[in-house]
Amino acid sequence: MKLFIKKSTAFFISFLLAFTPALAWAMPLQGQTVLIAAPSQIAAEAGEDIYRKGGNVFDAAVVVALTLAVTSPYFASLGGGGFAMLKKNGEEVQALDFRETAPAATDETYFMNLKSGNSWTGGPAIGVPGIPAGLFEIHKKYGKLPWDRLFKTPLELANRGFQVSGEWFNYTRKESPRFNLAGKKYLLKKDGQFYKPGDTLIQPQLVGALNLFKDKKLKGFYEGVVAKDIVKSTVAAGGVLSEEDLKNYRVIWRQPLTYKIKDQTLHLMPPPSSGGLIIKTALELVQRKNVSQQGFLHADETHLLAEVLEKSFRSRSVLGDPDFSNLPTQSLLSDKYLNELSKSIRISSSKKLEPLSEKTLPKESTETTHFVVMDSKGEAVSMTITLNGNYGSGVVSDKFGIALNNEMDDFTTQPDKANKYGLIQGQANLVKAGKRPLSSMSPTLVTDVNNKAVLALGAPGGPRIISGVFQALYRIMFNDLDIEQAIMAPRVHHQFAPDILYLEENRFSPNVVKILQKKGQQIKNIRNVAKVCGVRVNKEGLLEAYSDYRGEAGVSGY
Ligand code: DON
Repeated sequence: MKLFIKKSTAFFISFLLAFTPALAWAMPLQGQTVLIAAPSQIAAEAGEDIYRKGGNVFDAAVVVALTLAVTSPYFASLGGGGFAMLKKNGEEVQALDFRETAPAATDETYFMNLKSGNSWTGGPAIGVPGIPAGLFEIHKKYGKLPWDRLFKTPLELANRGFQVSGEWFNYTRKESPRFNLAGKKYLLKKDGQFYKPGDTLIQPQLVGALNLFKDKKLKGFYEGVVAKDIVKSTVAAGGVLSEEDLKNYRVIWRQPLTYKIKDQTLHLMPPPSSGGLIIKTALELVQRKNVSQQGFLHADETHLLAEVLEKSFRSRSVLGDPDFSNLPTQSLLSDKYLNELSKSIRISSSKKLEPLSEKTLPKESTETTHFVVMDSKGEAVSMTITLNGNYGSGVVSDKFGIALNNEMDDFTTQPDKANKYGLIQGQANLVKAGKRPLSSMSPTLVTDVNNKAVLALGAPGGPRIISGVFQALYRIMFNDLDIEQAIMAPRVHHQFAPDILYLEENRFSPNVVKILQKKGQQIKNIRNVAKVCGVRVNKEGLLEAYSDYRGEAGVSGY
């Protein structure tokens, strides 16, 4: 494989360095056959390996996810959930929803009777995991190689061990005070010390779970000893998950939201993600306000991007699981509503809008990871998976060592109270048995006139996912930047409430910050706005991958 940085990128990097003195970044990788952009080099290479052995992009995606379950359990263990956007040649793009669901014994009042931390740490925070069902479904529908072949590398890494990364060490150290006993047993050394970067971690308990999933497929995870282990550990930590909940878990195929820009079609994640709708709104608004006419990173451009995001995020509070409420998606994407939002955006100042409620809408006629696999045939997988917080609920199953999510915190758990991501959620997102919590995950795929995938991207980062994915798309579609330039560019975030414009620290000039303040923006600095990764077909027809320097990153392919 050949790694090189293009000339134009070198200029761009020197320009960025003026603002960012101490950054390191992943290199863009170009290839002719298949490329993988992932949050870990081991996982990206495992995906490349299976493709070289005759697998397709779907096999590679399953291998990347299973590898991450071993090497990055904080956001990708089998105890989480996710969304994927998939493009198979000759078929339309499909969105797969394998998000966690609320256990049958929960309802709207479930968290109101518990302490506020209970939706974050411990058994009550745990939703029914969807990742194993999602991976199995992808393989069943699109896979080429036999299912058991996909387990070879993940099993080797769990069995013989892998060297933990700096990210693994940092996340594990930070979250370890929330671990139950099994978490401490499997993730810390016997003497209670942490595995440090470069130390080898072996996980025999996980080998057991992976073998059962490999041999018995869905029944190996959702029934039998693994299911019993998950239920027992959740209940011991105060939760209400049952074996029945696990047995009843189903993935859902959904119709992506689509949006045409020039001769390309964007395929965006529909509810229960808020991502697609907000990104679509933001793309409409940047065009209505001609934002690309402003200079790159000029104060006016930054202000308008912030305003666009703020107004677009206003919709989030009326969204939830489409199978449980009638969502006003049509009204939110109507010309009438978009014009109203567009009119409220001014270049000179920041005009505030009232929060949205059903009444104010025109009448109708929400730690995670993302990776992309794309090949030169035009097939692609864009997948975001998560446990919500790093290591989710802090509960690790006793026998098989599966870290369990805290996705229940993505529901409206206490009315009018912000969740961990500062989001105040609405009625449509109240807890209900079997319901999926509103998400911000935004796996995105773009096809060309020949119905081939030409761009796929996504990100972790809670609500900042939406801002990150939107700005990367905007930079590619309207500023004509390459994928690495588009992802490297400094980003802003505004989620409507609270009324704060978040800027990536040290990446905007003090002068720009002053002008933004004069326009009425309340500014806070944050380390970064999401961690985007993607693969794109460039102008020369080559595949090009980039994984954000804002965290651990890997790219692989040929
Ligand atoms: O689904 C969601 O929107 C959240 N559970 C995602 C959490 C996340 O991205 C945390 N990442 N850093």
